[in-house]
Amino acid sequence: MRDEESMRAATLRALLYVSRSTLASPEITAEIGDIVDCAIVRNRRLAITGALAFSGAHFTQYLEGTPDALGVIMGSIRGDRRHSDVVVLCVSACKSDPHLGDIGVQK
Ligand SMILES: Cc1cc2nc3c(=O)[nH]c(=O)nc-3n(C[C@H](O)[C@H](O)[C@H](O)COP(=O)(O)O)c2cc1C
Repeated sequence: MRDEESMRAATLRALLYVSRSTLASPEITAEIGDIVDCAIVRNRRLAITGALAFSGAHFTQYLEGTPDALGVIMGSIRGDRRHSDVVVLCVSACKSDPHLGDIGVQK
């Protein structure tokens, strides 16, 4: 690993949050598609990896990235009206390279 890559890996953070969906039935599929389409492009640009789960009533999302990148994404996510009551459960140092590698967010 190059020096700058290992320095970046050392600063990586992992973040987990839960939130309450505000989506109503007819719009759910389209809105989830919109969220995923946006996340694929933007997370890749900010070198964020993660996974998003939706139960029908709640979201849970796990994200890995630099503190700056996570701050940018969480600023957008917190202000998104498609969910409410965003509660960050934990933020911790990533133990190694991003666990999710290139998987990112996929449909
Ligand atoms: C549950 C949930 C998860 C989201 N996850 C991401 C994400 O991982 N990456 C992303 O870029 N946008 C995500 N979004 C969309 C953002 O909230 C926001 O709409 C989008 O990033 C555009 O940001 P902007 O309005 O600040 O330009 C998510 C939205 C919701 C409701």
